[in-house]
Amino acid sequence: MSDDQAQQQLGTVKRIYAHWGRHPRVYAAQDWFTFLGRPHVIRRRAVGATGMGPGARVLEVACGTGRNFRYIEDRIGPEGQLVGFDYTSEMLDAARELTRQRGWQNVALIQGDAAELEVGDEPFDAVVSILSMSVIPQHIRALERCREVLRPGGVLSICDARLLPGRLRALNPLIRAIFVPTTGWRPDRDLVTDIRRVFGNVSVESYNLGSFFVATATRDPE
Ligand SMILES: C[S@@+](CC[C@H](N)C(=O)[O-])C[C@H]1O[C@@H](n2cnc3c(N)ncnc32)[C@H](O)[C@@H]1O
Repeated sequence: MSDDQAQQQLGTVKRIYAHWGRHPRVYAAQDWFTFLGRPHVIRRRAVGATGMGPGARVLEVACGTGRNFRYIEDRIGPEGQLVGFDYTSEMLDAARELTRQRGWQNVALIQGDAAELEVGDEPFDAVVSILSMSVIPQHIRALERCREVLRPGGVLSICDARLLPGRLRALNPLIRAIFVPTTGWRPDRDLVTDIRRVFGNVSVESYNLGSFFVATATRDPE
């Protein structure tokens, strides 16, 4: 992808998510629909799959309005550190307001492009990214940066949506028509293969008839 194409696609991301960031309650309401009634189960599992525990230092890439923060906070506790990173300032504004309301003192928010992922030099124990690697324009570069910012032995967890398999494939044109224009979703990416290429390992769990997956990969496993 050329730099011009990447900039153009980032412009589309900004246009779509500036809208969602200004309407975080509507964004929250469509969660149930997107996850077919199981947003809590799948989001909690995606966070828990990293094995993060009390005191962990965690990065959420493309954190959006902060819908995963509660699951991360439940695990890391007040002694942990959470860095939320996103390109769209309106999404980060909603995440900041959520953080204020919940009284979390250990959250830092950074605006930028995940392809660069400038988050300082201190490594992370875990990196989480949910519903985002299928949206980020230069997602391979983002995955490479995720690997670089993890400590050796640190774990990446990616959760994303896929087109339906088998007989349910008949619904895919409708699913594309709803989600591609409203979210910038790129369902034709093979994210599991991309994660395996970057990390050299991956394990995958499927949910909702195969339409969701949680993929974990470890930096430099023993
Ligand atoms: C579908 S939302 C998911 C938000 C959140 N992770 C969640 O689970 O609700 C996709 C997010 O990816 C962000 N995003 C897209 N491209 C990005 C990039 N290049 N760098 C950082 N964030 C990006 C958007 O701003 C948006 O907040």
